[in-house]
This record gives sequence, C-alpha cells and structure tokens, in this order.
Amino acid sequence: MNVVVGITGGIAAYKAVGVVRGLVLAGHDVHVVATEAALRFVGRPTLEAISRNPVHTELYEGVAEVRHVALGQRADLVVIAPATANTVAKLAAGIADDLLGNTVLASRAPLLIAPAMHTEMWEHPATRANTALLRERGVHLVGPVAGQLTGQDSGVGRMAEPDAIVAAATGLLAPRDLEGRRLLVTAGGTREPIDPVRFVGNRSSGRQGAAIALRAAARGAEVVLVAANLDIDPPQGVELVQVGTAAELERAAREAAGRADAIVMAAAVADYRPVEVAEDKIKKDETGDELELRLVRNPDILRGLADARAEGQIVVGFAAETERDRERQLELGRAKAARKGVDLLVLNRVGWHEGFATERNAITVLSGVGTIMAEAEGTKAEVADRILDLVAAALPPSASRG
Ligand code: CTP
Repeated sequence: MNVVVGITGGIAAYKAVGVVRGLVLAGHDVHVVATEAALRFVGRPTLEAISRNPVHTELYEGVAEVRHVALGQRADLVVIAPATANTVAKLAAGIADDLLGNTVLASRAPLLIAPAMHTEMWEHPATRANTALLRERGVHLVGPVAGQLTGQDSGVGRMAEPDAIVAAATGLLAPRDLEGRRLLVTAGGTREPIDPVRFVGNRSSGRQGAAIALRAAARGAEVVLVAANLDIDPPQGVELVQVGTAAELERAAREAAGRADAIVMAAAVADYRPVEVAEDKIKKDETGDELELRLVRNPDILRGLADARAEGQIVVGFAAETERDRERQLELGRAKAARKGVDLLVLNRVGWHEGFATERNAITVLSGVGTIMAEAEGTKAEVADRILDLVAAALPPSASRG
C-alpha cells in the first residue's frame, strides 16, 4: 500500500525513522513528507535510505507533476508522526501553507496522527479543542503517552512508540473483509506432561498462529485464540484462551468451534502423550541409565472439527513437513488435506533451522482437493494476510448465514 509519512518539527522526529522502517518492513511503499523544521531533527539521507524513496519538503518542487496534490491523492494512508501542537492546530483549521498541509487536504485516505508535545501544550484548551475536532472528523490518534519528555520533566505528551504507531497504521490499512465474522484460531505447541516438571513438546513458538489472529482482528473479525504455550506476548484485541495440553486444546477448540465461521488450526498439537503421568518427579536413582516412556496417540483434533463442521464453516489445517523435495512435499500435503477433510491446507517446510521462532515464513496453500491456491513468502503477518485472503474468499456471503 502507498503510505505518506508526514514528519513535523519536534524532537520525537528522530523516532519517526522507526515508523518509516516499520512500514517499509511491513511491505508498504512509504513516501516521507517532512517539514523544514523536521529536517533540523532528522537528516534527509537517513529518511531516504530507510524509506527507499525521495523525501519531499518543498511546496514549489515538482510543480509540473502537481506534487502538492499527487502525493495525497495516491496515498492509501497518511500518518503524521510526530504531530506537534502547531501541526495539530493547522490540521484542525485546514491550513495548507506547506507541502504536508496540501498533501493532507488533497487526500481522502484515513489520517493517523501521533501527537508529541509538552504536557502543558497537550492539555491547553486550544489543543484539546483541536484534537476533539479532528477526532470528530474521523482522524485517528495514537498516543500521546505518559513518560519522560525532552527536558527534565515527564508527563503526558510523549509520542507513542514507533511499534505502536506502525500497528495502528497497519490496522487502518487492513481491508475490513472479515467484519462480522467469527474466527477460531489455535496457535503454539502443546506440552504433554511426563511428571510435574517435564513434558513432551515441540518447537512451535506460536508466532504464525498469533499473527493470523492479529491480522484477522485487524480485518474486522471477532477472534478466539486458543493458545498453547506461546513464546511471545499474546496479541491484543482477541479473546485469549490459554491451554497446555492437547486434551485442553481440544476442549477449548470444540467449545469455540460451534460459533466460528472459520477455524484455523495453526497449533502444533503433540501427536502422542505419555500413557502415564508420574505423580512425583521421576528420580534418576530410581530409573537407572535408561528411561522408557510409553506414548499413546492423541485424538486428531483438526479431523474431529472438520467432521463436525456446520455447513459453510471453513476449516484450515497446517502441515509442517521436513521433506525437501517439492513434488514429494506437495504429495504429502495433498494426502494430508484429504485425510483431514479440510478446505485449505497450509504447507510449510520446517527443519532444524527453518520455520520455528523466526519472523518470516514461506508457505504453499492447497485446497481440499489439492489445488495450489497460493504461495507466499514474507513476514508472518504478510503470510497471515495471504491465508486470510483465501479464508475471506471461501466464506459464504454473510447474509446467507444467520
Ligand atoms: N493436528 C490436530 N490434532 C493432532 C495433530 C495435529 O488437530 N493430534 C492438526 C494441526 O493443528 C495441524 C494439522 O493437524 O493443523 C497437521 O498435523 P500433522 O501432525 O502435521 O499431520 P498428521 O496428519 O498427524 O501427519 P504426520 O504427523 O504423520 O505428518
């Protein structure tokens, strides 16, 4: 998507570099419009290198291409970070005496601002009236937050952290194509206890499942996330049900499945659990040099959910394979899709060094009958969006479902 990042002249301008970088890493085409004052706080070369585009400041540059309106017209989102008290006032009044002011007025895209100023300025009746007016017009605000300000003082007025601004921006860019839909997503890896301190587990971090939950919520869905031992902070804005074992995951998933329009089983469910769970910690001097664990199959939760699904409910399974040969991998995927009775099967290759605990992923999505529906490679958020595109397309029109 095309994002204009407006930077105005406050000390927090140096942090705008993090906002630009976050948006570029999320795959957006970022165009920086900086005021003259902003460039006293952060250098043009830094912004050009990070945004991978020229930085615009001058109203009277690029007149032939009518740049003062073109940037705003092309934008899918305008973000202003930091927005000083002066900028907030100018936005409220619709003043267009610089390139950023023109860009904002020429844009029909959503506008997100991250105010940054001293507490007195933030609390001044003029600023309060201006922000109230902007909110009324549908402008989105992120922050300011309380914390250390530029001088010795601290209080409300500090710009929101770049990650929070990027998250708010990404939320606004998402299509609302899952509005009114309920999704059940499972994530993480189950742990099957051996004794009170040990378990049989797997290396799933829960990142991909959590990303799916987060992106589905950003696209308007009501999400229940059944999370087994996540390695990361649970995502905000979803209903979280924490579980430990496969049996707990099955119970929680069955409970939520009845109300779900789609089920995405990203969790790595342990296929086996110890037959017996020792009441007390197993001691070495009692077991000797070898310990034999007897394991029993866990129920196939995905298959159970797919068998019990209501008409129109979309069921998505995952397959993590170590097979290197592409054709053989697809064959395994096709067999798994058929065996599990899913509508979509997300195939990803895992190995000692791939797939787990990383920020990126590469997937192939198969239909229930084995057709390749999509191939995607990117951050786990980008991959999540590709999977959700297919879920959104597969869902029956909402009107036909009560
Ligand atoms: N799954 C499940 N219940 C299990 C095991 C797996 O619901 N007991 C789900 C996973 O959440 C995932 C999919 O099934 O969506 C993939 O499971 P996987 O274990 O890779 O497939 P299997 O059919 O068990 O095949 P194999 O382990 O032999 O590759």
